[in-house]
Amino acid sequence: MSIELNFDIAFTARLALREKQIQQNYRPIIAVHKWFARRPGTLFRSLLLSEFGNQPVNQTYYCTNNFEGITIADPFMGGGTPLLEANRLGCNVIGADINPMATWIVQEEISELDLSRYSKTAENLLSYLENEIGQLYKTRCPVTGSEDVDVKYFLWVKIGICTACKQSFDLFPGYILAKDVRHPTYVLVCAACGDLNEVADPANPGFCNCGAALNIKGPVKRNQCACPHCGHINKTPFHGDGPPSHRLFAIEYYNPKLKGKSGRLFKKPDADDIARVEEAQRLWAAIYPSYVPEDDIPEGDETNRLHRWGYKRFCELFNSRQLLALETVASFIAQIKDQRLRRAFATNFSDLLRYQNMLCRYDTMALKSLDIFSIHGFPVGYVQVESNFLGIRKDNGLPVGSGGWINIIEKYSKAKQYCTTPFEVAFQGKRKKTIEIDGEWIGEHNSKSSKPNSRTVDLRCVSATNLNLPANSLDAVFTDPPYYGMVQYGELMQFCYIWLRKLLGADFPGLDQTTTRHQDELTGNDTAARGIDHFAEGLAQVYSLMASALKSGAPLVFTYHHNQQEAYFAVAMAILDADLICSASLPCPAEMGGSIHIHGTGSSIVDTVFICRRRGSTARSSLFKNATQLARLVQNELEELSNAGMKPTEGDIRCIAFGHLTRMAIWNLKSSWDTDKTTEQKLERIRNTMNEIATLDDLTIELEYLDPPQQIINFGLFTVPEARERHDAVTF
Ligand SMILES: C[S@@+](CC[C@H](N)C(=O)[O-])C[C@H]1O[C@@H](n2cnc3c(N)ncnc32)[C@H](O)[C@@H]1O
Repeated sequence: MSIELNFDIAFTARLALREKQIQQNYRPIIAVHKWFARRPGTLFRSLLLSEFGNQPVNQTYYCTNNFEGITIADPFMGGGTPLLEANRLGCNVIGADINPMATWIVQEEISELDLSRYSKTAENLLSYLENEIGQLYKTRCPVTGSEDVDVKYFLWVKIGICTACKQSFDLFPGYILAKDVRHPTYVLVCAACGDLNEVADPANPGFCNCGAALNIKGPVKRNQCACPHCGHINKTPFHGDGPPSHRLFAIEYYNPKLKGKSGRLFKKPDADDIARVEEAQRLWAAIYPSYVPEDDIPEGDETNRLHRWGYKRFCELFNSRQLLALETVASFIAQIKDQRLRRAFATNFSDLLRYQNMLCRYDTMALKSLDIFSIHGFPVGYVQVESNFLGIRKDNGLPVGSGGWINIIEKYSKAKQYCTTPFEVAFQGKRKKTIEIDGEWIGEHNSKSSKPNSRTVDLRCVSATNLNLPANSLDAVFTDPPYYGMVQYGELMQFCYIWLRKLLGADFPGLDQTTTRHQDELTGNDTAARGIDHFAEGLAQVYSLMASALKSGAPLVFTYHHNQQEAYFAVAMAILDADLICSASLPCPAEMGGSIHIHGTGSSIVDTVFICRRRGSTARSSLFKNATQLARLVQNELEELSNAGMKPTEGDIRCIAFGHLTRMAIWNLKSSWDTDKTTEQKLERIRNTMNEIATLDDLTIELEYLDPPQQIINFGLFTVPEARERHDAVTF
């Protein structure tokens, strides 16, 4: 009963919320390579310490801990959050993922690297790029007259072809290039001449120097656009066969010599800028590329959007300058003799791809590139941004802008540095304090110590449905399974994988699989005809395998959230089929409300952490029979989350309630559960059981009529120190 006793909802929620603001500042390791929807490392550290630290988590969190001899598995390791936290605490770890990109990334995160050799090679790479293609990323500053200032971003607009008059036109949904948040004024594009105008009040934008009235709204509205030449109303995707083409319409550049400005300026491209685009096209047309994949884009829930836009091959998602630059850097990386270093730079290359393609969008407020994976799909916009491939450094050496090699090298170096000197961030009031946790480290071997290390790392690229581990071999499973159909891992990561495989070769360890897609991926997917049955049965198989490998009473712990209750039926079925009981369901914020993929979707940011065991005990006060009792429990937890600085939304309340209902349904069904029933029957039984306890409507009414939180008896066992003494448990 360790997590059940030692976990602290408010303490952990506070940590997780802060981490999710800027995750790289709390867990720099994640910068090794993009993975989707990583849960907070601080949450998994809290869970591990609660289970194995034998003290309330707030007493162990900032101390050095060593759980040598403990073995942890994660059957869905993804980018590796639970595994890395366990490894850092000295545990032996076994990780599996069906996606070869995931195994690649975790391997890269954990493998030792000589950082000084990495830095030297990185400098060589940057000089090589500067010589080969540096000129393609320069521009003339019209203010100072400097001829070769660095371009931060090239801005491109899609071009439509009128189906009636066959003439081309710009597809601007709006003419605002920048808002007055980071820039002193609004910047508006003139629809008539293309000049960029600095405007103080966008409600009264006035006139361009050419005499045309400035406008905020563009001609593209609700997938329709009137042709400016003949007035014909065209419909999306506005172009003929093949992928869309683009026109360079603006440049954001960096000129540190501009006094009193941040060095950021916008310009309409001049003749030299257009000539550079043409030069890149000419150079690209003249070479026979060795490293650009020719792969077709297969059908898929996410990739069908690309087909609708006319993209058939992945390489069509890049412009000529990007392809030339990628081919150039790939030829450098392919020549790196040392396999470990080559692997590191190939990983950087793969991660850079998400910023170097023509699906990146420009954030008009933050004035930066939103990479292809800023939402969990392939978003096709009308205005796209191309980042400087090399990146830019300020005089003080720090990077400016995003999406270039300098940015990638900088964050990768910090990530690997963190492996040898991990830290936690504490707050005293508003003051932030970084605390190095001496004695903890990430990896297989401790480069700082002469003592032999006894921790093992076992990473496998397999379907967890086949992950057979010896009975009684695991002290815990900590995982973060797919959340039904929320992210199409296989479809998305293929975008990077095909390049990585082309660069290093199919015989490079870890790259033998031809694709990242797999029919056994445990996600709902309409195109692949994978529904809730597939998800529920697969999850049940994995949890059953894990349960039989766990030592007696050891926990299977996992995070989960979904907007649809159906997705929780699958979770309940998996736990029941694995012959486990859910002893606690704890809320923890795990996303950021402002995240682009969350924003405006009404999604929850709160995960339920399910703690499941075959034998153990559960807090009596956490058991409930009806909506009134559930409402009390939920309200108490909402209060704890509010204490941590969170403002729970309706979606959050729904997910917290689903978590508790799942736990109670399992509790009620356990003794009569029949694993031989069909999946449909099992899911139906779970649905009925949950509804008998409480429906969402019942809960909403109860929450409305509940007394204010301060008048309620504290049900929470996890925040008050004396709770440990007062803990009244029911064993199972
Ligand atoms: C929510 S993600 C894990 C994220 C991870 N915890 C992290 O920190 O990045 C779920 C993972 O499950 C993997 N997955 C899906 N089906 C699988 C299967 N049958 N076997 C193993 N892994 C699978 C996906 O590839 C994905 O990486």
